[in-house]
Amino acid sequence: MDGPSHPRTGVFAGIYDPVIAPFERLGLGGLRRETLRGLSGAVLELGVGTGRSLRSYPDSVSSVTGVDPDETMLDRAARRLPEAGMPVRLLRAAGEDLPFPDGSFDAVTAFLTLCTVQSQEAALREAWRVLAPGGELRLLEHVRVERKPLGRLQEALTPAWSRLAGGCHLDRRTLEGVSSVGFEVERIGRYLGGVVLRIHARRA
Ligand SMILES: C[S@@+](CC[C@H](N)C(=O)[O-])C[C@H]1O[C@@H](n2cnc3c(N)ncnc32)[C@H](O)[C@@H]1O
Repeated sequence: MDGPSHPRTGVFAGIYDPVIAPFERLGLGGLRRETLRGLSGAVLELGVGTGRSLRSYPDSVSSVTGVDPDETMLDRAARRLPEAGMPVRLLRAAGEDLPFPDGSFDAVTAFLTLCTVQSQEAALREAWRVLAPGGELRLLEHVRVERKPLGRLQEALTPAWSRLAGGCHLDRRTLEGVSSVGFEVERIGRYLGGVVLRIHARRA
């Protein structure tokens, strides 16, 4: 693993795997595979976390670069390297400030991460920049829904939830964010009444 040393944020990383494991069995694992289906070439995963997605990349992917600002998460992801079927590089970096030249990747992916980055717009602009023209953005994210009672509840719960869940926001309008930085949205999968979206978009 390369990258400068960094204080560990620890607690959330420590409980992440046991908390997420039941959801993986209840369908999250299948949604990860569906999100990654058909990708090829060099892929960048934003907020790689404990490396839960590494085993789900198809054989057509030649390499995965996983970035995350949390070194404890990256340590746990490193334990999962043997599960990946291709070379994986792990790097400490934030999605808003990626240490890669323009056009470095064929695809950028993120799972449950654009809810947590400090600036979703900055992270999406960076994804655009490091993608080669024609490159793909694949996301699996929970989002704010527009239906009144639920959307309002998501907003009301976000401050407390964010403190409990490592900075996660329940009220991000991620699909709108993807379009607004210029990606062409090609496909959307909606789950749990539209609270979870699988977004396939392209840097045209
Ligand atoms: C809910 S976890 C998801 C982890 C993993 N993607 C998964 O699907 O299991 C959110 C991840 O986003 C990471 N993160 C937080 N701020 C970030 C940022 N600014 N840029 C990239 N990743 C970030 C966290 O460290 C954490 O690993």
